[in-house]
Amino acid sequence: METIFDGQICRLSGRRKRVLYLKSIDPTKTKVETLVIPVCEDRDIHDIEAISLAVKTAKKIKEFKGEKGDELTLYNHLKIKAMRMIFLGIGKYKKIDSEALRRFGGRAVKKSIKMNLSEILVVVPSERKTKKKMTMLLEALLEGAFLGNHLFDKYKKEKKHKQLKKIDFLVKPDVVKAFRQLLLRTVAVCEGTLLAREWVSMPSNDKRPEQFIRSITARARKENLKVSLLDEKRLKRQKFGALLAVGAGSQSQSGMVVIEYAPKGAKKTVALIGKGVTFDSGGISLKPAASMDDMKSDMSGAAAVAATLIALAKLKPKMRVIGAIPVVENMPSGTATRPGDIVRSFDGKTVEIGNTDAEGRLILIDAISYTIKKYQPDTLIDVATLTGACIVALGDKIAGVFSTDDKLAKDIVRSGEKTHERCWQMPLLDDYKEFLKSDFADIRNISSTQWGGAITAALFLSEFAGDSRWAHIDIAGPAFIKNETEYCGAGGTGFGVRLFCDLLDKL
Ligand code: BES
Ligand code: ZN
Ligand code: ZN
Repeated sequence: METIFDGQICRLSGRRKRVLYLKSIDPTKTKVETLVIPVCEDRDIHDIEAISLAVKTAKKIKEFKGEKGDELTLYNHLKIKAMRMIFLGIGKYKKIDSEALRRFGGRAVKKSIKMNLSEILVVVPSERKTKKKMTMLLEALLEGAFLGNHLFDKYKKEKKHKQLKKIDFLVKPDVVKAFRQLLLRTVAVCEGTLLAREWVSMPSNDKRPEQFIRSITARARKENLKVSLLDEKRLKRQKFGALLAVGAGSQSQSGMVVIEYAPKGAKKTVALIGKGVTFDSGGISLKPAASMDDMKSDMSGAAAVAATLIALAKLKPKMRVIGAIPVVENMPSGTATRPGDIVRSFDGKTVEIGNTDAEGRLILIDAISYTIKKYQPDTLIDVATLTGACIVALGDKIAGVFSTDDKLAKDIVRSGEKTHERCWQMPLLDDYKEFLKSDFADIRNISSTQWGGAITAALFLSEFAGDSRWAHIDIAGPAFIKNETEYCGAGGTGFGVRLFCDLLDKL
């Protein structure tokens, strides 16, 4: 487990080396092996004359127009000293936005990996001709390329392809210096995303709660973050009744990891809480086989929170950030919690367990109450693969945001737009609270109606957030994908890390 992905850094003769570089060369003078050039269908977007001319030559070939998805490789050009030039169409000028550039970056890398190349030089479009800011152009290209350069193949004996060792970006000399900070920041954030992806894609037999906790702890300590572990014994002593009820059926020990990033002079505290169910079988309310398929991903919220804190240790924001990560495995067995059982949560309320498959909210409420009591955060956000109902509502590309604080919800949605980790604000209607009434306990963990399941789950959490400025993000849809995209392979997406890193600047 500890050999897990070591950042996107390749170890060459023991030395760590960065993968992304900004580079300024004259491609008509300096020899390059592979040049990758984005081509716009209806406009020239390049500053370097020789590149613009090469694009013109490429467009003379009938099958290449620069339309989205078009590809052409040319060898041994007269003017440009590149062994090969890969032209990738990005479509119409009007459609060029950061997501189009991220996708181009991902395609550039994936295509090169398939061609068994080990390094490439990507031509960055011109600020003047695209009428886009260099920050936006670069950030998007770097993200797409870095995230696309990730293969989850550690369970395969035969590794067909290798990641690129080096990805250079061709820019003007002044850009190399001025955007070094942006490059380092983007790398730190995307390393977090890749770490989260690896954790999520890892099969549940290799991330039993103890192992997952150990892995999180090791990675966080490496960044000099303060990590404390509440093991099962301590959770029992401190009466985390709801959390422990979920782990009761598992052979593994439940736990809660708290990661603290606390820079000197911090004035604000933000708490992030991530659902860490290493496998969700449903428990005694066992899921049907087909629904259990991807339940190794039920710790995606935990992965996002842990990886965000690890990224923050490098980004060094001014506020204090607490990451609270409850980790359990939801299994059926003779010791498992039964439907109808009543447990006492950390804050003292009793909860009737109507369905053991509604386990995420149980571990979250104890983590939320504990975090509020211990750290009194100014803002508290939980992130969880909480409900299938949220996927029904928003599909698998968009997360649901629920909050009693409209401004906070809107800030999250805005960060989602910027990072393309898209979020949609959902209603949190008090009317529906009545569906959570229990005849015997203070509250029930499932709704009495089948409708609006993502909302009633959020309302259940809200009962434990007190007066805190709180938001809940349901990532059941976008945390895991079956089919690869331009810059994400099949499996965990790392959803949440880029979102949080952007959001924290706004809070
Ligand atoms: N982990 C699931 C939610 C989920 C479903 C995540 C599909 C990713 C993909 C959660 O613990 C769950 O089982 N929720 C139940 C709640 C129900 C019992 C009230 C659900 O959504 O069906
Ligand atoms: Zn469940
Ligand atoms: Zn679950």
